[in-house]
Amino acid sequence: MNRFFTLFSFSLLALISTRSSQYDGVWASETESLTRFLLESARDAEFLEWLKRVRRRIHEHPELAFEEKLTSQLIRNELDSLGIEYEWPVAETGVVATVGSGAQPWFGLRADMDALPIQELVEWEHKSKINGKMHACGHDAHVTMLIGAAKLLQNNRHKLKGTVKLVFQPGEEGHAGAYFMIKEGSLDGVRSIFGLHVDPSMSIGTIGSKPGPMLAGSGRFSVIIQGKGGHAASPHRSRDPILALSMVILALQHIVSRETDPLESRVVSIGYIRGGEALNVIPETVEFGGTFRFMDSESYSYLKQRIKEVIETQAAVQQCNAVVDFMEDKLRPYPATINHPMMYEHAKRVGENLLGDENVKQSPMTMGAEDFSFYAQKMPAALFWIGARNETTMKSVKGLHSPHFVIDEDVLPVGASLHAAVALSYLDNHAEKIAA
Ligand SMILES: *[C@@H]1O[C@H](CO)[C@@H](O)[C@H](O)[C@H]1NC(C)=O
Ligand SMILES: [Zn+2]
Ligand SMILES: [Zn+2]
Repeated sequence: MNRFFTLFSFSLLALISTRSSQYDGVWASETESLTRFLLESARDAEFLEWLKRVRRRIHEHPELAFEEKLTSQLIRNELDSLGIEYEWPVAETGVVATVGSGAQPWFGLRADMDALPIQELVEWEHKSKINGKMHACGHDAHVTMLIGAAKLLQNNRHKLKGTVKLVFQPGEEGHAGAYFMIKEGSLDGVRSIFGLHVDPSMSIGTIGSKPGPMLAGSGRFSVIIQGKGGHAASPHRSRDPILALSMVILALQHIVSRETDPLESRVVSIGYIRGGEALNVIPETVEFGGTFRFMDSESYSYLKQRIKEVIETQAAVQQCNAVVDFMEDKLRPYPATINHPMMYEHAKRVGENLLGDENVKQSPMTMGAEDFSFYAQKMPAALFWIGARNETTMKSVKGLHSPHFVIDEDVLPVGASLHAAVALSYLDNHAEKIAA
């Protein structure tokens, strides 16, 4: 059924791009052998060693959102030595490189560059040299895989039937770097885009995704509840913001459990509480904050409105005053990541050809968020998980954002060749017909 659908959608695609399916078929087999050649090239010992060196240098020098200066410099140095042109700076530290003829169609490949404010607890030779910062989401691997793809594509540039735009973006971790890349016009003219994210629970050589909704949208809020401080033994002379906070937190949990269709996916979570210093003092204020997750813009508006109402109203019951800040100018909310069915099918087919049918999995939707969603709002896009676990050497899985997070570097050539193959075959399928 899947296979049938794939064939069906591809012949549809062929019709749309006004090419006969027979012609398409001839190209398909050539493309298939070329993509397998890309994987073999990437697994070559010298190529793999180069990828590891690049990744380790980035891993040792993690930089937070919009501070990716060394990472950006490293990317540009590698591009320079490959003879690849690029636009820089885009959105502070971003780089958009161009491989191919410069003519349409333009296809985008994306990597994010930023690290997290986490102290690395993995003891290894290439541990983060920066205290309190770590590549715990694998963005060091994402950059490396895209640099690897740059080399593979550049080596095969005469076979490209269009142009590949390599998008190295800053600030994925909560700072909507993708939004700013788009805002600065650096994606203008790009028809479709593909992205990869490492998954430490999936085996090396496997990838996974799903068509349609894949990841949630996310928003954030921080709150100050103002009460009236005083002696804990005379509660009647104060207005207790701690009690107000307790009621607020319980009430917030009812937005999902009582106001949301059980078949709809939403989350409201409180991530921090700060308030009070002493055992016998009712504090003047308490602060707290959290995140909310949703799948569409109506849910986003609804949650935002109800979070504000519930907090303000519950605080008022305890005669306190609450100020809710959604911090949207600093922390732009992310829309849900929706994979385009055709782009998903395309990348899936390339993955099956490269890695084998059984190694391309259907992933479940999760309520994590990714700013790749901003690209997907603008153009047909697909984001795939790529397995980064060696079952033999990695007994337990340390998740994304863990201070113990590790990947197996054998993922690097798989990602580099998958990127290159998805782009190359997209251009083959969408090459603009030259009038006969
Ligand atoms: C996992 O690691 C072992 C030992 O280093 C190696 O022999 C094997 O090829 C690795 N597996 C994958 C899938 O990379
Ligand atoms: Zn992350
Ligand atoms: Zn990430």
